[in-house]
Amino acid sequence: MNKGVRHYLQVADLEREALLSLIDRAMELKELHGQGISYMPAKGKVLGMIFEKASTRTRVSFEAAMYQLGGSVSFMAKKDLQLDRGEPLKDTARVLSRYLDCIVIRTYGQNMVEEFARWSDIPVINGLTDSHHPCQILSDVMTVMENKGKDLSSLKVAWVGDGNNMAQSWIQAAARIGFPLYLACPKGYEPDEGIMAAAQKETRFPLELLRDPVEAVKDADVINTDVWASMGQEDEAEERKKVFTPYQVNQELLKHAKPDCIVLHCLPAYRGQEITDEVLEGPQSVAWDQAENKMHLHKAVLEWAMGLRD
Ligand code: CP
Ligand code: NVA
Repeated sequence: MNKGVRHYLQVADLEREALLSLIDRAMELKELHGQGISYMPAKGKVLGMIFEKASTRTRVSFEAAMYQLGGSVSFMAKKDLQLDRGEPLKDTARVLSRYLDCIVIRTYGQNMVEEFARWSDIPVINGLTDSHHPCQILSDVMTVMENKGKDLSSLKVAWVGDGNNMAQSWIQAAARIGFPLYLACPKGYEPDEGIMAAAQKETRFPLELLRDPVEAVKDADVINTDVWASMGQEDEAEERKKVFTPYQVNQELLKHAKPDCIVLHCLPAYRGQEITDEVLEGPQSVAWDQAENKMHLHKAVLEWAMGLRD
């Protein structure tokens, strides 16, 4: 990787202080935005976005963030690029580095963003891979802090469902930032063993993989869930519905958590599967603030990556 270029490919790329300072900055930028104060340090800068999977929130919130910072955006569906006709990634990365100031990539394998970053002279930001969703997790932690205060060390955070990209980014965040995390995942759908082991080695807080969702959410302050079949797993959707049914976040499950427990879902949500309509639309759901916070957090990430405040 090119030294000095600020890539953000997974949570574990950054130290605790750097992660917390992105969240603090996102809170400041949210405040400025709320006051209608314009802040445009990215005038003349261009953000590239290569997306190989669908996106509503990540795409539009990064675009809005870059425009509000005064910059412009070039969105590229991968199928429209020469990349899709066999042009090597390393050639694409070097050429785009000559036009752009930063790039967000949403794709399948984590190795794709890593390879791109190896050849890129501009910052590469992971906008979701099969293994990680590192920007999402920071806006989620920001949302938790807005509701529960900035000291997360005594909170009980629960993850219920698939051990997927979101679960793995939560695991890295729990270890790096420092808070207790209890995951309940069905057999065969656990997070990656290596990611879990590295995080358990790093953290001094409880980080446990359980089977029973009731045990995971018992007295929890925060409950997270996500789709049962992620993008790219559409063929497994029917099978997964059977396996994951006991892992639905519903009013019954919430009874085991603290009465003021908040419920997070990164969206898109499938009501009646991983979460009920009642919970998603209910008073404990913070999913809509979570979605908004993506835009403020993305501004902080863009500002940091392009060195706009240095
Ligand atoms: N949460 C999230 O990443 O949503 P999109 O897939 O719509 O970007
Ligand atoms: N786990 C989901 C997250 C979507 C934002 C997926 O990868 O499809």
